[in-house]
Amino acid sequence: MSVVRLDWIASPGTPLHGDVTVTGDKSISHRALLLAAIADGTTCVTGFLEGEDTRATAAILRQLGVRIDAPAEGERVIHGVGLHGLRASATPLDCGNAGTGMRLLAGLLAGQGFDSTLIGDASLSRRPMRRVIDPLTAMGASIHAQPGALPPLSIRACDGLHGIDYELPVASAQVKSAVLLAGLYAQGTTRVREAQPTRDYTESMLAAFGWPIHCRAGVAEIEGGHRLRATDIAVPGDFSSAAFLLVAASIVSGSDLLIHDVGVNPRRTGLLAALRAMGADIVEENPRRCGGEAVADLRVRAARLHGVEVPVEIVADMIDEFPALFVAAALAEGPTTVRGAAELRVKESDRIASMAQALRALGVRVDETPDGAVIHGLGGAGCLRGGTMDSCGDHRVAMALAVAAQRADAPVRIADCANVATSFPGFVVLANTLGIGLSAGE
Ligand code: S3P
Repeated sequence: MSVVRLDWIASPGTPLHGDVTVTGDKSISHRALLLAAIADGTTCVTGFLEGEDTRATAAILRQLGVRIDAPAEGERVIHGVGLHGLRASATPLDCGNAGTGMRLLAGLLAGQGFDSTLIGDASLSRRPMRRVIDPLTAMGASIHAQPGALPPLSIRACDGLHGIDYELPVASAQVKSAVLLAGLYAQGTTRVREAQPTRDYTESMLAAFGWPIHCRAGVAEIEGGHRLRATDIAVPGDFSSAAFLLVAASIVSGSDLLIHDVGVNPRRTGLLAALRAMGADIVEENPRRCGGEAVADLRVRAARLHGVEVPVEIVADMIDEFPALFVAAALAEGPTTVRGAAELRVKESDRIASMAQALRALGVRVDETPDGAVIHGLGGAGCLRGGTMDSCGDHRVAMALAVAAQRADAPVRIADCANVATSFPGFVVLANTLGIGLSAGE
């Protein structure tokens, strides 16, 4: 986990050019580890995200008795222990900064015959866990949290879960996945209903590992009593990492960038729709399926952007992309309105507040609302101010501000950026090769 405090100095570089790939998808990397760990047989994962979040999940699975080899960068070989092969850890399981790690592991561990304790860093220790505790408790789990349903989570040994029919109170793939993972150990049927569709990687990966799953619009349903069979997983590039490059190339005139092998599952690409509505020039080239997932190369060229009202229906499909969207909006002509995005307040930071505060310091008017914001863009010729901004320890805020600085008239110091290593290790190096001006601060 990142304990070193790292600041960045970002200033305008050159137009973005190049032909690049981004690191592997974080959501898919977590799920590949978890399912492979409890499968029968050996799973090889390629394109694995070498980030702190996913490495924390791998370390936890090792503590639970799973052998995981790392033969090369981006590769993991997981020797599955079978559905009932996990063993108690004598020490707490540290999820670091990863909400996905903690919530999915809570689901996986809820039905085990041993106690576990899940802990996290300062940011994760402030994130709400009632959303997983409630349904898992309804399934028969015993989970003790801190006041306010915060981590650490103590999960008690369980002598049997039972399926539930659960309607998600918030649009959350993490909660859906926690319930489905617990459902593997439950008697009877576990059914999750969602009013707003969220990323479906757990459902498709369960099917790939041979567990019968029935999905229809807004409903995923499994029965206990089956087994998972190891299968190799090729992880596509993370759209959420590509998002920063899409916005950077859109707002820096003269840019023309090709990003290869990006996962374009429609439950992840709401930002594409939003940016295109703003006038962005982004083309999906060579669309194909890779390991069951939609993948494409994304070509992005600079464009003049204008403000839009972001449709509430696509908020869940771009839930991790709002820091990047806020930057595009800050440099678009006219206001951009975001509504129905209260979940942003409980991410790695309160992303509405973090971005509003930073953009104001850069000279942009932002009116915050409880579930969104109105960003009054400066327009194509507009220029941001320099200064010192706080990323609030949030990896996506840090990267979004580095992108914003490409249109500033003086250097921007971004404080507390070490957590970028949770999701996009190598961002600084890659950014520099493309033309983004970014270095570590003194
Ligand atoms: C994730 C789901 C989303 C997302 C997170 C990863 C996942 O969280 O923000 O980065 O892998 O399931 P929520 O389920 O809380 O919306």
